[in-house]
This record gives sequence, C-alpha cells and structure tokens, in this order.
Amino acid sequence: MAPDPDPSLFDKVVNLSKRRGFVFQSAEIYGGFRSTYDYGPVGVLLLRNVKAAWWRSMVQLRHDVVGLDAAILSPPAVWEASGHLATFTDPLVDCKECKERFREDKLDDPNTCPNCGRHDTFTEARAFNLMFKTHAGPVEGAGHEVYLRPETAQGMFLNFKNVLETSRKKPPFGIAQIGKSFRNEITPGNFVFRTREFEQMEMEFFVPPDDAAEWYEYWCAARRQWYLDHGIADDLIRLRRHDTDELSHYSSETSDVEFLFPWGWDELEGIANRGDFDLSAHAEHSGQKLEYFDQASNERYVPHVIEPAAGATRTAMAFLMAAYDEETVNDETRTVLRLHPRIAPYKVAVLPLSKKDDLVGVSDEVLALLQPEFMCDFDVTQSIGKRYRRQDELGTPFCVTIDFDTLDDRAVTIRDRDSMEQERVPIDDLVAHLAPKLS
Ligand code: GAP
Repeated sequence: MAPDPDPSLFDKVVNLSKRRGFVFQSAEIYGGFRSTYDYGPVGVLLLRNVKAAWWRSMVQLRHDVVGLDAAILSPPAVWEASGHLATFTDPLVDCKECKERFREDKLDDPNTCPNCGRHDTFTEARAFNLMFKTHAGPVEGAGHEVYLRPETAQGMFLNFKNVLETSRKKPPFGIAQIGKSFRNEITPGNFVFRTREFEQMEMEFFVPPDDAAEWYEYWCAARRQWYLDHGIADDLIRLRRHDTDELSHYSSETSDVEFLFPWGWDELEGIANRGDFDLSAHAEHSGQKLEYFDQASNERYVPHVIEPAAGATRTAMAFLMAAYDEETVNDETRTVLRLHPRIAPYKVAVLPLSKKDDLVGVSDEVLALLQPEFMCDFDVTQSIGKRYRRQDELGTPFCVTIDFDTLDDRAVTIRDRDSMEQERVPIDDLVAHLAPKLS
C-alpha cells in the first residue's frame, strides 16, 4: 500500500534546494521571474545525472535507439501539421471581480473563484494556445512567425526519413532526444513541477502497426522499472492508464508513470500509442513520403509510434523528494538525501581534516586521483562534523577524510552516507574500492 503523502516534504525540499544550491528563483536580484528557475552548482549536476541516466538506458544500452538534437525554433507549418496550432490549448477563464485567470479544468469548483471566493464571476472559457510565438529576422509580422517547440517529439518525426536513410535502422527502432521545451502555462506552480521552460526526455519508437500494442506494454513496464532502478521506492511509483476522455488528440492509448508527490499522485511521464498520426500528418502536409519499405515482405507501411515522454526537471524534483530523509543521530536531526549514486550530484567529497600545510600535498594528491573518475567536491572549511552534514544534504555517497595518520600510513577514511560507517582504505586502492559502489 502507498504511504500517505507528507505535505511538509514540499517546503523542506524547496528550502534545501535553495540553501544548498540546487535550484534558485530565476532573476532573483530583480525580484524574481515567476515560475522560472535556475539550477545552481549542485542542481546542474543532479539534472545532468538524471538526463545521463535516461540516455544511458534509452540509447547507450540499446542497439535499436539512436539519438537526435533538433532545433528549438520551427516554422508554423510544423505545428499546423502536428495539430498543436489547432488543439494545443487549455480552457482559460477570468474572474470578472478580481481579474485573476485560471485553467477551468483545474478548478475545484468551476463556479467559485479560488482567489476572491466569489461565485459565478467567471467569463466564458476560451481556448488559450500554450505555444510561445516569436519572429525570425528583423521584420515582425505575418510570414516571419516562428514557434518555440512545446515538445521535443516533433523533431523526431521531422527527421524520421533522415535517420532511416543514414542510421541503418529499421522498425522496430527509436529516436531519442533530450532538450528544452516551452509552454505558456496558465497556472505554473508547485516549484519546478510545472514551469513555462522545462526539459523533456522523449523517445519515438517506430514499429510495424501489428506490433504496436505489444511494444506499448513493453515500454510501460520498462519506463516504470527505470525509476525503481534509480532508487525510487516501489510504493511511490505507479502506472495509471488514461480514460478515453483524457487522451490527447494524437493518442489511442496512454499511461502515465506517476509519483506520490507531497500533494498526491501526479505525472512524471506519459507513454502513448500515437499510431501513425504524426508520420501521416507530416507526410500529408509536407508532400514527402514518410514510410518504410520492408524488403522481406515487399510491403510499404507507415510505422506506428510508441512514445515514452518524460520531464527531466520534474523527474529531478521527484528524485529529491523520494531521497529526502530525516533521522535522529546523537539527539540531533540528520537530514540526508539517499540518492542513487548515479543520480547524486557529487559521488565523493574529499575532506582534509585540517587546513594546515602538512595535509595540503596529500589532499591534492587524493583529489587528483579521484577527479578523473568521479565528480568530486572538495571542502576544507568548518568542523568535520558540519562538513559531513553538508555532504549528507547534498546526497554525496562517500566522504574521504585525510588526517595526520595519512602522512604515515598513506591511508584515508571513507565514510558511507547511509550507514555513516567508516573504514580505512589505502590511497592506492581508493579508486578500485569506490568504483563498483558508484556505477
Ligand atoms: N510529446 C508528448 C508530450 O510532450 P506531455 O505529457 O505533454 O507529452 C511529457 O509531456 C512530460 O513532459 C510530462 O510528463 C512532464 O514530465 C513534462 N512536462 C510537460 N509539461 C511540463 C511543464 N510545464 N513543466 C515541467 N514539465 C513538464
């Protein structure tokens, strides 16, 4: 059974994110740019690790998926064909009394304004397109309009033919991409959960039409497993199949991977059976043939697409929430992020016991040995106890302490983040000792 969500976890994680340099409010010195965030020195490492873990599993460890990095700007024709110009909208209502705007489908009570509490003050709902529009070149106006992509997916469909012709792949095969997407969300919120600028990790898997149902089930199971493999507990992750009235304009079947956030279950990733919607739509609008000729059966067909589409920024936040733990040690509260080593920002912290000159040489030597292998932090300030606590809050799996005995025995103390146990290891064995625990 799933545990009850803990509402206090939200503030704890937001505070820790700011205090330790994971996430900052964007343009903070100008009062902050609402719902836009910057990833600080450890946040950028966390986010890169989330993306690297996804890429490793989706591209590196597979022979049937290749990568892509497509443009963010694209002409209206792309979004005309994809259906986004016509249907990528949210229903928007304004309160006539307090002038606040809301997404009608997210209101608890469609007749009561959550801001001023008045009843029956909403305007008629109107469809608000979520795409950001700008213009290319010095002239504004019709004919120069371009859009910032609201999803990375279309880049994969536009390059289907290019990839097919250059990569020697044939269905079933996938194209994967990680990158920024932009949506003019009406109600961004819950920290980095819903923002107007965010990162996605998407893969379009092209399959023979008859195999689509089987591959859909395969990717639902594989994607759920990925979160478990990276340390999120089984009872915090679930798969939820969409009801028919929830389905997007392109999808015949969708399941969400959901995480138990402090406010309840919510989406991390959607896995959709998109059929031949995208390739057929782009073929029709572009006049290009987007199909596969199967020489074995002498048949030409438009592949169907199974799409696992995840949010990198949202997933990074889920990893922080799943890893956050507090325990009492010697009558004090120890806060620790029990992150999977692949996700943890730093793998090792090198901590000389003293700033004294005697330890500088050997500390530099240890750091130089570890840095090419693992992302390391190096910290000489404050007491060793406080430095351990800081590394616990960053989720660093191992601290390596250099003390005055090191000068005699050429050994260091390794402290384990989770058990807090310590062991003495010769400097020459350090990399071999740590490597298997950090892969
Ligand atoms: N190509 C399909 C697609 O984009 P989506 O469900 O709209 O599907 C996929 O987006 C994932 O992208 C979501 O599950 C979520 O993790 C992330 N995402 C979507 N909108 C977001 C936003 N405004 N802020 C942060 N992440 C978002």
